[in-house]
Amino acid sequence: MAHSSQSDTRRKLLELFSEANGDFISGQKISEVLGCSRTAVWKHIEELRKEGFELEAVRRLGYRIVKTPDKVTANEIQLGLKTETFGRYIHFEEEVTSTQKIALRLAYEGAKEGTLVIAEQQTAGRGRMDRKWFSPKGTGIWMSLILRPPIPPQKAPQLTLLTAVAIAQAIQEKANIVPDIKWPNDILINGKKCVGILTELQADPDRIHSVIIGMGINVNQTLDQFPEEIRTIATSLAIEKGERIQRAQLVQEILLRLERLYQQYLQYGFRPIKLLWEGYATSIGKEITARTLNGTIKGIALGITDEGVLMLEDEEKHIHYIHSADIQL
Ligand code: BTN
Repeated sequence: MAHSSQSDTRRKLLELFSEANGDFISGQKISEVLGCSRTAVWKHIEELRKEGFELEAVRRLGYRIVKTPDKVTANEIQLGLKTETFGRYIHFEEEVTSTQKIALRLAYEGAKEGTLVIAEQQTAGRGRMDRKWFSPKGTGIWMSLILRPPIPPQKAPQLTLLTAVAIAQAIQEKANIVPDIKWPNDILINGKKCVGILTELQADPDRIHSVIIGMGINVNQTLDQFPEEIRTIATSLAIEKGERIQRAQLVQEILLRLERLYQQYLQYGFRPIKLLWEGYATSIGKEITARTLNGTIKGIALGITDEGVLMLEDEEKHIHYIHSADIQL
């Protein structure tokens, strides 16, 4: 298993290239900034090349990045990442059973808030309600973020809604598509599911230890790459947009949006997030069917409460507060 944790030197090197914006940086400058020898610089450059970065080396001018690979390694994501803490530590693996499982272990071992686990492929990706999440190699974003929010455990579902808003914003920015959010946490484009979010909580009754936010985003799959049984209900950004999208750039945008919304949330509470969420939720005001553990309810979706609970008004004008359900539009 390829495991790459980020050394400080490597991070500084990527920051340098990121600031240079495609221009040359001299070997001298690199070795000064990194505080290492010219030979060590060369070794770092060789490592980047092995990962698929194309680097041009010109005498007297130095090095410049010509092309970044469409991979979601720590290097790819950290080159140009604008966050303060989210994604500053990245645990990348080519293949995992589930990024949730690794994030859970890291959280248990004390990983810091903002730690990201990401993989090119999951062999046992998990969805909500014990479903499977199809996570083929190299086409999607399969990642889990560790948070340690100072909020009471019952408020944790709000983070799922917050995540949905952040991903919707990032899709809008990078793919130029305005997606729909389906309560609580599916993101749809043209009625088909493109993103799933799975939030897992580790807490005592009164204190959160960690929240693991799992995000699955179908990015570059073509229709025939989806298993037949989900072809009519699933889609990818590339299918909807008609062109491929650089996954690492989308990850950067998601992390940035997430970090901003999270800071806003901790400072001002859920209300501003709720308004943004409702802006993307096209089902509000429409008739929907909610399948809960206690039965099926049909009604008009009125919106969500400040707690993130769905309000559904049935034919008798009775309002149901739905905490967990499968929704049909
Ligand atoms: C859903 O059922 O809609 C939620 C799907 C969540 C999938 C993501 S992919 C990354 C992370 N690892 C998993 O095993 N699941 C989540």
